[in-house]
Amino acid sequence: MCGIIGFTGILDAKEVLTEGLSELEYRGYDSAGIAYVLGDRIKTVKTAGKVNCLKEKVQREAAGDQTSCGIGHTRWATHGGVSDLNSHPHTAGKVTLIHNGIIENYQELQAELEKKGKTPVSQTDTEIAAMVVDDGYDGDPVKAIKRAVKRLEGAYAFCIMFEEFPGRIYCIRNGSPLVATYTEKGAVIASDLVALIKYSKDYFVLPEHHIAELTPDGIRLFNLLDQEVEPKMLHVNWDTASARKGGYEYFMLKEIHEQPEALRRTITPRLKDGLPDFSADNIPDSIFEGLHKIVITACGTAMHAGLIGKNLIEKWIRIPVDVEIASEFRYKDPIVDEHTLVMTISQSGETADTLAALRLAKEKGARTLSIVNVKGSSIARESDYVLYTHAGPEIAVASTKAYMVQLAALYLFAMRFAFVLGKRTEEQTKAVVKSFLNAVGHVEKMLSSDEQAEEISERLVKTEDLFFIGRGLDYALSCEGSIKLKEVSYIHSEAYAAGELKHGTISLITDNVPVIALATQKDVYVKMISNVKEVRSRGAKVILITTEDALVDASLCDHVITIPEMEDIFAPFCAVVALQYIAYYAAVKRGLNVDQPRNLAKSVTVE
Ligand code: AGP
Repeated sequence: MCGIIGFTGILDAKEVLTEGLSELEYRGYDSAGIAYVLGDRIKTVKTAGKVNCLKEKVQREAAGDQTSCGIGHTRWATHGGVSDLNSHPHTAGKVTLIHNGIIENYQELQAELEKKGKTPVSQTDTEIAAMVVDDGYDGDPVKAIKRAVKRLEGAYAFCIMFEEFPGRIYCIRNGSPLVATYTEKGAVIASDLVALIKYSKDYFVLPEHHIAELTPDGIRLFNLLDQEVEPKMLHVNWDTASARKGGYEYFMLKEIHEQPEALRRTITPRLKDGLPDFSADNIPDSIFEGLHKIVITACGTAMHAGLIGKNLIEKWIRIPVDVEIASEFRYKDPIVDEHTLVMTISQSGETADTLAALRLAKEKGARTLSIVNVKGSSIARESDYVLYTHAGPEIAVASTKAYMVQLAALYLFAMRFAFVLGKRTEEQTKAVVKSFLNAVGHVEKMLSSDEQAEEISERLVKTEDLFFIGRGLDYALSCEGSIKLKEVSYIHSEAYAAGELKHGTISLITDNVPVIALATQKDVYVKMISNVKEVRSRGAKVILITTEDALVDASLCDHVITIPEMEDIFAPFCAVVALQYIAYYAAVKRGLNVDQPRNLAKSVTVE
């Protein structure tokens, strides 16, 4: 997610802003910039690249500038590529602003502004937001902001400076975070505590739809009825390092908790009038024409997302989908041609094997679409089409929120595919989208299954071998549960198609061997319970993951985690949260470094 900092007071604003952006680097970003009051104007210095590049540019272009008021930003690109021009801050007329979030109706607003002869110079939704604020500015900053927020749709946290009001910074948010504090040195506002904590451990969260006015003398807060509001002060005991984790012990837990927001950011921009819509991603419906098969190729967790994608695309579209491990695909001379769509999935967009698989697919004439979380990454740049996920930076080596939004991208893709091919009418598609949103909405509720998962993990601390079993989507999901557990807790586990157990592996099921059985799919629920009975009768400890409405024989299971009732096809969104928690708490209880497991890197950029 983007990083934001604003300051006005008695210190050197350039120093406060660039050092604050350094503190926010952990959030992940691809460009950085500052804007500050210089005499009677606002000067901006910004660049693609890291904060160090920005500091060098400030040293070159602004070494002698004296200023005590400014705003700074690190950009995690969503709309518009990575470039100096697209980096923040953005200026329109008398207004300069920085933004964290996504303006969903920026294209309509751009069309309105262009009718007035106002055209943007960048490809960002943020510049459009600045133009909208300026469009409503008649000398009163608060009125301009109030007029603008009536027109803007989407998530935002803005810090805004008006040329005619030097020394003042105005801020407002809707969904994206902003925290602020005031000391004798001045007023500070930021996207998270890590940039604030060096000034004060007393702070307040800017309430949504309230305007904060920062001046060297303090911070005033107004609601949209112009009534002044007293900030609710909070106190934090974190140090900077823990502040980066938002108070969580590990990034992995923070990122598990970020999944509902990551889903919202990924799904919302792809829904238009209740239908899946990729026009903003420049993915034409022609991508679906004349396809004989789809190949999904990726590594690790990303490949496991592909297994889920296979299930739903084949079920809804009825064309064959091969899921290929990228390191295998790249050396097997795959059967791929112009009638094949090769989809690569990658959080980092830099995984060497996946990149090589993409290049091979292109050599063989396949159409290529990538699902990538990092804007402008190699896999994204080299694909014909890109469906970006908006999970924000994923710091923990174990992928959680990235997997979740990879699923969301695949489901949206399959829904659009089915609609375009006429497998579903518009009304039927809207109904499926509604059911999808309902299921995805339950992920928030699954976050409260942590205590149950923690209790289960307590019993796994001394486990050396564990089995995951499932059928259909649950089998695909059990593969993800297994890699999560292995990579962070070092407990050996295997994922098995439940019906396959009796063909060998059940010989390993003896007294007290834990078996995590996924049984969310109603059409094979009875079969799954038979498999549970098979392992139970051989002494297994059974942890059952099923739906709230399932009839469970408690004598068969040592633990039952339920997910909310929903259409089976969407169950992975909720069931995976339980699996993530079990892996996380098993690692914590084993005293391991959850975020940086031994031998592993976050992005495997070499073979
Ligand atoms: C997942 O928890 C692992 N960190 C690993 O399997 C990862 O998914 C894999 O290396 C692929 O990475 P990518 O998504 O960045 O391509």
